[in-house]
Amino acid sequence: MQIKITYIFIVSLVLLLNSCTVKPEKNQDDIKSKKTAYIDSLVSSMTLEEKITMVHGINKKDKNGLGYVGYLPGISRLGIPPLRMQNGPSGAGSTFSSHRHLAPATAFPVPIAQSATWNASLIYKVGKVIGIETKAQGRDVLLGPGVNIVRIPEGGRNFEYYSEDPYLSSRFAVSFVNGVQKVGIMACVKHFAANNQDDFRFTINEIIDERTLHEIYLPSFEAAIKEANVASIMAAYNKINGVYCSENSLLLNGIAKGEWGFEGYIMTDWGTRHKTVSAANAGLDIEMSGWGKFGTPQFRDNLANAIKEGEVKETVLDEMVFRVLSEMDRFGLLKEKKKFPEGVLDAKDHRKLAFQVAVEGIVLLKNKNNTLPLDENKLKNIALFGDAMEARVSGTGSSNVVPFYSVSPYNGISDYLKNTKVTYYTDTENIESVEDTGIAIVFIYRPSSEGNDRKSISLEGESGLIERISKKYNKTIVILRTSGSYTMPWIDKVDAVLQAWYPGQEEGNAEAALLFGKENPSAKLPVTFGENRKDFPANLETEFPGVDEKVNYSEGIYVGYRWFEKHNIVPLFAFGHGLSYTTFKYDDLILSDVSSNDDVIIKVSYTITNTGKRDGAEVSQLYLEDIKSSVDRPKKELKGFSKVFLKVGESKKIEHFINKRDLSFWDVTSKSWKAEEGEFNIIIGSTSKDIRLEKRFNYKKH
Ligand code: BGC
Repeated sequence: MQIKITYIFIVSLVLLLNSCTVKPEKNQDDIKSKKTAYIDSLVSSMTLEEKITMVHGINKKDKNGLGYVGYLPGISRLGIPPLRMQNGPSGAGSTFSSHRHLAPATAFPVPIAQSATWNASLIYKVGKVIGIETKAQGRDVLLGPGVNIVRIPEGGRNFEYYSEDPYLSSRFAVSFVNGVQKVGIMACVKHFAANNQDDFRFTINEIIDERTLHEIYLPSFEAAIKEANVASIMAAYNKINGVYCSENSLLLNGIAKGEWGFEGYIMTDWGTRHKTVSAANAGLDIEMSGWGKFGTPQFRDNLANAIKEGEVKETVLDEMVFRVLSEMDRFGLLKEKKKFPEGVLDAKDHRKLAFQVAVEGIVLLKNKNNTLPLDENKLKNIALFGDAMEARVSGTGSSNVVPFYSVSPYNGISDYLKNTKVTYYTDTENIESVEDTGIAIVFIYRPSSEGNDRKSISLEGESGLIERISKKYNKTIVILRTSGSYTMPWIDKVDAVLQAWYPGQEEGNAEAALLFGKENPSAKLPVTFGENRKDFPANLETEFPGVDEKVNYSEGIYVGYRWFEKHNIVPLFAFGHGLSYTTFKYDDLILSDVSSNDDVIIKVSYTITNTGKRDGAEVSQLYLEDIKSSVDRPKKELKGFSKVFLKVGESKKIEHFINKRDLSFWDVTSKSWKAEEGEFNIIIGSTSKDIRLEKRFNYKKH
């Protein structure tokens, strides 16, 4: 009896104490556990069949007869609405093929052009607008961003990705996801992982070592999860080290859900070759194989049976459904409605943003004797050649966007110039006979598409055309609309070159604004441009496109500029290169030891001054070099950048913070990031080759 009374007393005391010390964090926990209880109760009230409808995408049209790119039907009996998916990442309203043709939308410059802006806050705005337009089209999930690394210059989807560099790619992944999700649309980071080639993409087996995977191919996904809390991940088609990504337990349960703590859901790409039992047990949550031509829907046909046979536990399916519902709840699709901005398409500020991104994303590669900007007041005639009559809005495949309007180079330039005669020459046979010999602009277009890689990086016949024009004209300007690096045997014969990628619906307006100096170029290359194909990695067939459906990533961590620097290959245009109509001076590099402050080790600061005659923006880049290391490390690794707008004569102080992870490599022995003590070099460049400031510091563990 005595014991019982004492027990009751202690329990009451504990309860009383607890009720007096309720902290705000506890409230958060309570909310979370209430939500968890609510989702759990939804899951437990579902039949097995209903649970399976929540993890298998079907083919469906909306009320306007437009096909959803992806569709989970929901369960009306339980008040669960459908989950409707839309392609990204160049804009909402992407098309794939006619049966999935969606309404038009704002066509932004493609992601590689977006990252050429090196302007993360601009990409955040792009994410927001694409989210708002996705909402306007009655969709809940935007299938983007694509954050695979540009490994080879031929990659069919290089234009859909951000960079050859994992740090740069991570920054834009985070900004874009934050923008999309801010307006209540779920983002989906894809294709997890290493979908770096499109030839044989459904079956290719990529042999990638563990360190390379962690240092190069995974960081953008990790950042989207840890820093932007992305709602979903799309598994890639390919195999990594013998296992399809959609049934790869090391990637899904191991790295994404385990190591990184991902709480959202993982879906397949459309029609992956996963098998029911291995995929469900590996951590795949949804299959999107609802399209007949993409093979048999495994979960739909086999999951119930696998559960009955005990090959997959029903608790595994419960968790799959739980993850989908939790995200639906977070985005206000279930009981609790949340306030997000209304959806709207083609608004004025969307058009303005598309223009701004195009302007900031077009890279001035060459500008001999300040050929550009052209002075419109002194210009009587201007001759346009090549592909000038059509805007090259985007690449092709699932990310293609049909814009409400687009501005071709010809229209953009003609509208801009009031007193100059603009002549477009269709007949390039007779260049030698044209009378006008002043200024020629040659427009080059090379398409690139999902589904296959480009066969070559040569412009072939068009290189000859450029040379013939350059012989005839006083000044020849070349504008390249390509997805990346092409060989330029004519480079010394022309006066100026602009890399415009696929610049979206505002192409012509943006090009005119840059050509005539209304805007000052500020873009820089997010990928290295090589002189020849052999300058790049993966020159053997076993390395690309692979032999017997197997491809060796034998270059390891040496991708992009890491490769060029290691092998002392001089690039045609370096990673981070891009000219301006003004000049910038860098000075006062100061490194301050702030290692007592949590994870941050060094604060880096320096000043940039606009020393030229025009206002403009400069992208400065911070590279790190580990002077002595127990493993082979790249000569430079990008660990920071900044874009700063400066008026003529103006100076601004730039700051970066370097943390322990920035100093680290992936240590395969301890299976963790490792920062070794010793000397590191901080390198500040205007490009990866044009180094302006450098200073060393000694890292000591505390
Ligand atoms: C692509 C994905 C796309 C999906 C839906 C796939 O072929 O790889 O990026 O989101 O189709 O269209």
